[in-house]
Amino acid sequence: MKKRIFTGLVLVCLSILPTMAQWGRPVDYSAGPGLKDAYKNYFTIGVAVNKTNISDPAQTAIIKKQFNSVTAENAWKPGEIHPKEGVWNFGLADSIANFCRENGIKMRGHCLCWHSQFADWMFTDKKGKPVKKEVFYERLREHIHTVVNRYKDVVYAWDVVNEAMADDGRPFEFVDGKMVPASPYRQSRHFKLCGDEFIAKAFEFAREADPTGVLIYNDYSCVDNGKRERIYTMVKKMKDAGVPIDGIGMQGHYNIYFPEEEQLEKAINRFKEIVNIIHITELDLRTNTESGGQLRFSRGEAKPQAPYIGTLQEDQYARLFKVFRKHADVIKNVTFWNLSDKDSWLGVNNHPLPFDENFKAKRSLQIIRDFDAAADKRVPKEDFVPNPMNQPGQEYPQVNSEGFARFRVEAPDAKSVIVSLGLGGRGGTVLRKDKDGVWTGTTEGPMDPGFHYYHLTIDGGVFNDPGTHNYFGSCRWESGIEIPAPDQDFYAWRKDIPHGNIQQVNFWSESTGKMQTANVYLPPCYGKLVKGKNGKLEQTRYPVLYLQHGWGENETSWPVQGKAGIIMDNLIADGKIKPFIVVMAYGLTNDFKFGTIGKFTAEEFEKLLIDELIPVVEKQFLTKEGKWNRALAGLSMGGMETKLITLRRPEVFGYWGLLSGGQYAPDEIKDPKIVKYIFEGCGDKENPDGINKSVESLKAAGYNAEGLISEGTAHEFLTWRRCLYQMAQSLFK
Ligand code: XIL
Repeated sequence: MKKRIFTGLVLVCLSILPTMAQWGRPVDYSAGPGLKDAYKNYFTIGVAVNKTNISDPAQTAIIKKQFNSVTAENAWKPGEIHPKEGVWNFGLADSIANFCRENGIKMRGHCLCWHSQFADWMFTDKKGKPVKKEVFYERLREHIHTVVNRYKDVVYAWDVVNEAMADDGRPFEFVDGKMVPASPYRQSRHFKLCGDEFIAKAFEFAREADPTGVLIYNDYSCVDNGKRERIYTMVKKMKDAGVPIDGIGMQGHYNIYFPEEEQLEKAINRFKEIVNIIHITELDLRTNTESGGQLRFSRGEAKPQAPYIGTLQEDQYARLFKVFRKHADVIKNVTFWNLSDKDSWLGVNNHPLPFDENFKAKRSLQIIRDFDAAADKRVPKEDFVPNPMNQPGQEYPQVNSEGFARFRVEAPDAKSVIVSLGLGGRGGTVLRKDKDGVWTGTTEGPMDPGFHYYHLTIDGGVFNDPGTHNYFGSCRWESGIEIPAPDQDFYAWRKDIPHGNIQQVNFWSESTGKMQTANVYLPPCYGKLVKGKNGKLEQTRYPVLYLQHGWGENETSWPVQGKAGIIMDNLIADGKIKPFIVVMAYGLTNDFKFGTIGKFTAEEFEKLLIDELIPVVEKQFLTKEGKWNRALAGLSMGGMETKLITLRRPEVFGYWGLLSGGQYAPDEIKDPKIVKYIFEGCGDKENPDGINKSVESLKAAGYNAEGLISEGTAHEFLTWRRCLYQMAQSLFK
């Protein structure tokens, strides 16, 4: 029996805080299909590799599972493979090609002509004097032909020319000591010698050598307005002149804040006008504000990053891939620039990739992989209204008729605002600053119906949303939002019925050495004089349900977000139950620390409940006494308490209820006569099988047991409101 209670505790606690599962044992985010398989209907997924990546078995395993396109990070660059006239370094270049050949992986050939890591010897003669452009072209042609012929069997696309265009932000520049309007072209040695003709030549040489490969012009900061237009104009000019450019490579050195989807789409749409192939050639998302060619390398020992930064990165990856999927008609490949944070050219402390410095998959990988294709097309209905839990006069947060939630937060100087509510396994909904400097955002899809706690994380600090009221959960007052439920009438105020009231009872608890508080629901008829059996006027006495909250909550949780009083009033008004009292006390749950789960016995609360609270309640209120007039039920950790206490003290309570709080087994109770009714319930997103099986086995063993599986809900208050509504109808019968 001990073992079963313990497993129950573990299960309950895992569902109290899903994140605990992550604390307890590491989650393997790489479990599931490879990225290449998840994206097989969209585009190929690539990775840039170095020497170790293709020789260490653990790393090659990752490559083989996740990727179907490989780029040599450096080994094929002119300066590496062809450092001097007649000198070729084919060693590593061949190893990478052979690795791909052996594993049936196709390659992107990077790169044939670039201002950096270039074979600079091509520009000078033996005496160090500059050569004529014709000589340069001859050398470039020989280079391109040699590389392309050696590898074209395994290559499907070539970055023929890399980074030939100038960056934004330079309206003027100095050329030969004079300030002139800035050229759209990068002032490279290539350009200075040949003008933009070198671009045309490189593409022509590549086409001669490989008549079928996809020929790409590749550059960074394609999402910057100026650079986008410069690239567009150059490629258009070249194509109009018959230069064989097949596609544009957008490098994708971005960060967790940039670019916005709109900005990225602007570039894709613009390039779509002139090419029908786009590759995202070098994707990585720095966890700082730099992008493109601005480089602050952050190398050295890996330093951990704040969790909210991880959330921002996951969200940014999710947003960018959603845009990529939307444009899969032109986007044919997305390549990550490096395998892991450890390999990143930016340095490990930019944490830019979906694999960390130990080659462990991050949650980003899972989020990129497990996208919801239906959600890509989903647009919320624009019938948002203020959340019913808002503070007076507050327009936000809002909910729509489908259950989407929309948030709006004023924090003009913040760098990031995250709402802890969200979907898709992400850490919440990341808001974006709109034109007016206000942060807004909508959940990716409909939320489960009912009540949800949430908070804001603004630049890493945790705050409540000033738009809505606060509710005690997670050991603090948290913001709350209410998503309309199809059956919401059972917990809605009704003007035409009598209402009970909830009294606060404060009492001294010797066992805890503190004042304690309980909220006591008294039905509308409570205290009224009615004619008794012998004709005398007397007050009715009532049975009592002791109703416990879960971990992190307190005595206010059931009466406020649980709407226990409203549910009771409605049940009584509809004649569904005979009136009874509900006592909602603090269950001493919140000093419980993770890691001490095996030691939780509920003995302290048992003392408080049975030796202190019940005597106070039975003294102060018109109660009926004895176990057949007492029920104990609780949600989540309150369910654990209920189970432990009812099994130890069956003489005190005659009705037992576990709400997302585990199950009883017949051999734990041993005697069907000691309990008149057992209720067990949970959401259909929790452990419905466990509940169903347990209720069946209890019934088979002769117990009066009832189960409820709440539709469309998880470990949240709508599940428990429904449980209370159901369970109350069978108590004290
Ligand atoms: C980088 C490599 O990752 C580094 O190892 C090297 O030191 C410099 O180049 N744009 C490109 C890539 O096209 O070739 C660059 O790769 C990153 C920027």
